[in-house]
Amino acid sequence: MKESKKLWICLFMIVLILPWTANGFERIKFGVISDPHLAMPAAGTEDEFKMQLSSVDLMKNAVKEFNKTPGLDFVVLTGDITLNAEPWNVEMIKSIMDGLRVPYYVVLGNHDISPVPTPPKPGAPPSMGAYIGVTRSTFAWTFQGHGFNGPDLWWSDDPVPGLHIIGLDTNVPGIWGGTVPANEIAWLEHDLYANRDKLTIVFSHHGFVTWHKDEESAAWKNYNWFPVDNAAEMRAIFEKYPQVSFVINGHRHIGQRYKKVNDVYYFVIPAVSSYPMRYAVFTLTPDELSWVSKDIPISKKVLNTAKANCIGEPGEWWRCSDHPKGPAGDKKMLEFFEAKEYMKGKVPVRFKPQRYGELRVPSEELLGAVVR
Ligand SMILES: [Fe+2]
Ligand SMILES: [Fe+2]
Repeated sequence: MKESKKLWICLFMIVLILPWTANGFERIKFGVISDPHLAMPAAGTEDEFKMQLSSVDLMKNAVKEFNKTPGLDFVVLTGDITLNAEPWNVEMIKSIMDGLRVPYYVVLGNHDISPVPTPPKPGAPPSMGAYIGVTRSTFAWTFQGHGFNGPDLWWSDDPVPGLHIIGLDTNVPGIWGGTVPANEIAWLEHDLYANRDKLTIVFSHHGFVTWHKDEESAAWKNYNWFPVDNAAEMRAIFEKYPQVSFVINGHRHIGQRYKKVNDVYYFVIPAVSSYPMRYAVFTLTPDELSWVSKDIPISKKVLNTAKANCIGEPGEWWRCSDHPKGPAGDKKMLEFFEAKEYMKGKVPVRFKPQRYGELRVPSEELLGAVVR
């Protein structure tokens, strides 16, 4: 074969192969868990909607499952890691998470900082559900290296070359709702601009979309506090940067679901601590994100108690307006919480930088965001 022909064949092969390596990875597997509300058993701790007495076992079992998952690259814990920001529960969950064989990342939830919004229960120890708990900075310094890098409560990292992940702080001390403040938004836009060539996943505790019509106004138990109060502004930012394909949140305590809004896929992750007590494993390729939502192994007795507490008196606050008390309403409520149809699935990646020539020169609009 002529040398020039060989050269052309080589060049052709490079052109064929290049796009497949454009994202810098072929397959990434990561776990997500949320809302363990870890509570070391103590006086005043009891199983309610949140299975507090079983929370340590549930977390330990979730970590065991992740450690048995082949090819796992990292795990993200999306907030409400403690019952109510008790320092001993922060230490306990840190020691459990440190048992993971892969790197892990943590974001802050509304129950992880002082003052927590839950009023103290009569007869409970002074710091159980009371208005004290660890500070935001204690939280950030406890989890240094697990996303946190210095005193800021928001962070970003590249756990695998070609993948950028962002952890937002959506919490407002003293309330259970959330927001993303202006200084954090400015940081976020700088970070998105600086990392615009990497596929990006955003993690936070509060979400940016609704999962039930009750969340669209304050009329039903302030359920409009489930998403952040500047959700529309945040969605517009995610949409503006094409590398943001996926946004993953906790806080809602329902089975895993997803929703597509203007090319961005939003996921909600089930709680470790409340029915149906699941964890998620995602697999990401340059083309698609697939997932399985799995039950955390636990005794039948605990599972049955969690289910009974969900539709019983302990779960009353979590009952939506179209889930009235009674057999039909309970069935509807369980279907909403179990979300069985979403336990497995896959969605496409919208960011394919070099394969389809979508790596664009930043527009004036993007540059404007960066310098403001
Ligand atoms: Fe929670
Ligand atoms: Fe929460």
